Amino acid sequence: MKFDSISILNRRRFLKGAASLAGGAVLASSNPFTAMTAFAQDPPSGCPAPPTGGTHFVPGSDTRPVVLRKSISAFSGAELTTLQNAYAALRALPASDKRTWILQADMHALYCNQCDNLNLDIHGSWSFFPWHRGYLYYYERILGSLVGDINHFRLPYWDWENIRTLPSPYASPGNSGNSMWDNRRRPALAGGGNLPSTDGTAARITTLYGLTDFASFGGDAFSGGSIESDPHGTIHVDVGQASGAQLDMGNLGYAARDPLFFAHHCNIDKLWSGWNDLAGGGSAYKNPTDAGFLNQRWSFYDENQHVVSISAADMLNHRNNLRYVYKNPIFVVPIWIILECELICCLPGPDPGPWLKVSEQVRETVIQQARANSPVVLVLHGVSLPPGISGNFDVFATRGERSIHVGSIGMIAHGRDQKEQHARAHKPITLTFDITQAAPELFLRDKPATLHVFRRTEEQRPGIMTKGQKREELFQLKAEKAEIRVAKR
Ligand code: C2O
Repeated sequence: MKFDSISILNRRRFLKGAASLAGGAVLASSNPFTAMTAFAQDPPSGCPAPPTGGTHFVPGSDTRPVVLRKSISAFSGAELTTLQNAYAALRALPASDKRTWILQADMHALYCNQCDNLNLDIHGSWSFFPWHRGYLYYYERILGSLVGDINHFRLPYWDWENIRTLPSPYASPGNSGNSMWDNRRRPALAGGGNLPSTDGTAARITTLYGLTDFASFGGDAFSGGSIESDPHGTIHVDVGQASGAQLDMGNLGYAARDPLFFAHHCNIDKLWSGWNDLAGGGSAYKNPTDAGFLNQRWSFYDENQHVVSISAADMLNHRNNLRYVYKNPIFVVPIWIILECELICCLPGPDPGPWLKVSEQVRETVIQQARANSPVVLVLHGVSLPPGISGNFDVFATRGERSIHVGSIGMIAHGRDQKEQHARAHKPITLTFDITQAAPELFLRDKPATLHVFRRTEEQRPGIMTKGQKREELFQLKAEKAEIRVAKR
């Protein structure tokens, strides 16, 4: 099946008219968005109404076989063909259908503050993991049913920690004959280039797996977890276009138009699953038990175009309830000790900026750990970012001529243009950085290194900064609370 740009364009024009009628039929009249445009639009301009209500999912009702979700690199030729066919069938659905590629993508847009409604936003909080798990579950069922094998069809994941380029089935052939191709990606990556060496690495996963509490890893009711900005956000931004509205993957309003979104999020879901698999006592590596987390409920369209709803609690046991598993690698996690620390703003002097204040005893412990090359991790809670910023940012520990990269922050765009961007506030986030290399400089008694956030540009590759290189300092890092975590030796 071919998808040339002309026919897609025409279909979108058609959708724009047709879907406002079709969409209108499912809108509850009490919904404040009813008067605005419906789902299908290009670019999204109005605010579609989400599906609401629907039959509750009943745990245990899905009795399909439990099937392994695999890396795209482990797909056989036959499995790749099935996947291609599934996306092709999805793109070919008539505009009146509730499962269409564009309508499903707009549903994601709706739940991401695209529509000036922070309350619906499932990013930047503990809703991030479960909402995407539910979205993927129903999307997978739709794709599976379109190729007549809902029992065995499972989404692949893009394990960027291993595959450092765009996975080839999504990239080539690089034309509309490929149902998994997207024409709005960063040219360097689309042309076969590698991901930036700092983003979505195996080392980053190890650092995140050192976080034993869900709040730091996956967020709480009011702030996003460390996984959300990196690797989730950084990879989004890396795949999306480098400038403008950073379409498709770099902009939450458009990201789910790229089939790669689902492989990316499948990998994020795998990391959540793998984190839960890490054995720990007490609440270590456990999901929140608060009713406010468990009772969240969202509606989706299923493979029969029916509105269904599923709660976070229903999705925690994905093996029993959603019928898929991952083969997670075994990680040996050390026992972590939390040391007190303060992020003070700001130290005057040659490198004015926020610095880390610790007691003499903590200083000694940290320096010893770093010398032994045993991980030292900095966790900053309640970090606020300036409204409207988007893109990838690098955090450096700087002292005199030396500048050491300690982490990345990936902030995905919302909305179509600068004006829409500006209005968007960010919820506070937790940031986690491996500061083992930088620790000796960050904890010097005199004139310690300070922390700086720089906008990443194509020319400014992360790593050791070269002398005289000009960079745009973005904002001053501030945190409500700072902690240092070291592995018990
Ligand atoms: Cu809902 Cu990766 O964003």
